[in-house]
Amino acid sequence: MTILQIRTVPDPILRRKSRKIREVDDAIRELAHDMVATMYEAGGVGLAAPQVGELKRLIVLQLPEEEEARILINPEITRRDGEREVEEGCLSVPGYLGTIMRSERVKARAISESGAKLRLVADQIFAQALEHEVDHLDGILYLDHLKSHEDLVDLSKLEEAEHQHDFEVEVEDEGLMKSRGEKRVLIAGDLTDGVADIKDEKILEATEKDLERLSEG
Ligand code: NI
Repeated sequence: MTILQIRTVPDPILRRKSRKIREVDDAIRELAHDMVATMYEAGGVGLAAPQVGELKRLIVLQLPEEEEARILINPEITRRDGEREVEEGCLSVPGYLGTIMRSERVKARAISESGAKLRLVADQIFAQALEHEVDHLDGILYLDHLKSHEDLVDLSKLEEAEHQHDFEVEVEDEGLMKSRGEKRVLIAGDLTDGVADIKDEKILEATEKDLERLSEG
């Protein structure tokens, strides 16, 4: 099996419509198995053929609770019920997560790799993945379902935001406790060239005194 190259935005192939597969032959099965290997390698839940540069209506899914990947040829969603908010990413949009609405439950039909007709009823992540991958076959990305750009998170910036401070120190000071009615004061900030830079504005006034005392002491 071959690990295929995953196309990422703004590759125009991701915006094109895929063609129906007329005959399930060995070439299609080989492509499907390469896609499964590529999906495993990338750690994805699903992959659609246009993401590996093939405008064919073929998707593969690996659901968390299932042992084997599903190969779905010419998948079609025939019914959608309910709505729920989900967090979604895409191997073709690396480094981002978005919050969008997806159906609660979908019904779909497809063809298996042996040519058998399949009828599917899906909810939860199965329904979400089906909608996401079938969208790919029509040149639709989850980005198109975002209501506002604020619903899109740049993960590299999130990591930066999560690392908020270089240090956090709890200070106990009797005088301060009485004046503020607090038992503890948290000093948080960053170290720039070894100099403490207090970032937490809310407690700045109180902590400056502490820092003075600490440096005197
Ligand atoms: Ni995707």
